[in-house]
Amino acid sequence: MLFSSLCYLAASVSALVAAQSVELAGKVGPKTSAATKTAKKTCNITSYGAKADGKTDISAALTAAFNACKTGGVVVIPSGNYALATWVTLSGGNAWALQLDGTIYRTGTAGGNMIFIEHGTDFELFSTTGKGAIQGYGYEFHKTGSISGPRLLRFYEMTNFSVHDIILVDSPAFHFSMDTCDSGEVYNMAIRGANHGGLDGIDVWSTNIWIHDVMVTNKIFSWSKYTATGPEGVVSSKNETHMQDTCGNTLTHLEAMGSLGANVDVSAITYRNIYTWSSNQMYMIKSNGGSGSVSNVVLENFIGHGNAYSLDIDQYWSSMSAVSGTGVQLTNIKVNNWTGTESNGGQRGPVRVICADGTPCNGVDLSDVALWTETGKSQWYSCRSAYTDNTGADAFCLHNAAKHTSYAATTTTVTAAPKGYAAPTMAADLATPTWGFTESIPIPAMPTSFFPGTKPLKALAGK
Ligand SMILES: *[C@@H]1O[C@H](CO)[C@@H](O)[C@H](O)[C@H]1NC(C)=O
Ligand SMILES: *[C@@H]1O[C@H](CO)[C@@H](O)[C@H](O)[C@H]1NC(C)=O
Ligand SMILES: *[C@@H]1O[C@H](CO)[C@@H](O)[C@H](O)[C@H]1NC(C)=O
Ligand SMILES: *[C@@H]1O[C@H](CO)[C@@H](O)[C@H](O)[C@H]1NC(C)=O
Repeated sequence: MLFSSLCYLAASVSALVAAQSVELAGKVGPKTSAATKTAKKTCNITSYGAKADGKTDISAALTAAFNACKTGGVVVIPSGNYALATWVTLSGGNAWALQLDGTIYRTGTAGGNMIFIEHGTDFELFSTTGKGAIQGYGYEFHKTGSISGPRLLRFYEMTNFSVHDIILVDSPAFHFSMDTCDSGEVYNMAIRGANHGGLDGIDVWSTNIWIHDVMVTNKIFSWSKYTATGPEGVVSSKNETHMQDTCGNTLTHLEAMGSLGANVDVSAITYRNIYTWSSNQMYMIKSNGGSGSVSNVVLENFIGHGNAYSLDIDQYWSSMSAVSGTGVQLTNIKVNNWTGTESNGGQRGPVRVICADGTPCNGVDLSDVALWTETGKSQWYSCRSAYTDNTGADAFCLHNAAKHTSYAATTTTVTAAPKGYAAPTMAADLATPTWGFTESIPIPAMPTSFFPGTKPLKALAGK
């Protein structure tokens, strides 16, 4: 599978999210406020030769402004339209910020990363208006069948940073990657990609990253259009040993954990307040063979509509080749307070807990999970080698027994809607995207809410 062979995240929206109440390993975000940095020094790219004409490459001006402010200050890209034809690497900054109030349009065609920020600390990338954006015009690559153009934004070995109130649109490849970073916060973001796999919203293989109040619209595998994290945000690996792939990278996806391979060591992960619309699942844990363990996972307050699967634990995931080992041991997976509807529960049931026969799951506890089908009059729950500590109505098709022995898949079909399944939808829900894979994607407005009925945890810029 991708992870083990390439040390790389599989195509998916990814986000490492941490509920505020969930323990982060330490403080996240910049050490110095943007106001303090502004007071120290401002490096306005227009003073370094940038023209807001949407045509002239700002690469040299941005690099010069960075060099002038990299030891303390704010690089400003004021409102206006700018072209980026040659990619920039902003390396080694300390106590600096990048204020993106304008819109950067990709005009160059190289691969790599349009804006690559590395080896820095005490950094903030933000917009004061909530309108700063990068338009990647990925459709120009996609219409030739390529998804291997540049990423919009990549961080590498950055510490103590935040990224907020900016909009990322139509990346030729991934939108935002955080690789080997530490103590970052990402919030108040809108990310809109094309309707195709491999165009991830946020990829994280880092430590102590808190992501909250983010909307990602794209296509994951074949269905996903919209996923948002609520104001409490969500999740997080406490430290680098918590979420690792077989290459030792920390990872997680907003919608999925995996693909898990050998020697997995994942624990203490919380996802809370996740809204998913028209996706391939609300949450998936995927593996095929492998070893190690995943324990103490909380998946709480999820709302879904129009999704294919809802809870999908699949330890025989057919899209990855089997890894050696009898299976990754799943223990203490709490799925709590899931409501809404799925697309067609008779075809793809809302609860699927298919565990490895060699390592039956234990403590997969579903409580207040009430989902109902949008199509037809029945839905199914399917389980294999999966045990719960709960008894009674909440047990679904999970077995409850002292001894955890393997059992063949059993499917329970239900023909009555569970009580309390109804859940709100959101204004940002898209019926079918008005763009495809090969047409330009408009820059969306920043949503005012990222989870039904709630306000962002931190005030939106420009409001
Ligand atoms: C900076 O990040 C380190 C981890 O890299 C963390 O321990 C520390 O608390 C952070 N400091 C501040 C002031 O955010
Ligand atoms: C940056 O320069 C532009 C053009 O001179 C000006 O309009 C804008 O106000 C400046 N922005 C800041 C924050 O200094
Ligand atoms: C990191 O995680 C490991 C394994 O769960 C744990 O033993 C260790 O104490 C943690 N370290 C920190 C600094 O949290
Ligand atoms: C369950 O989730 C909903 C959002 O879907 C939230 O409003 C409610 O407070 C949650 N219930 C509990 C008991 O946390």
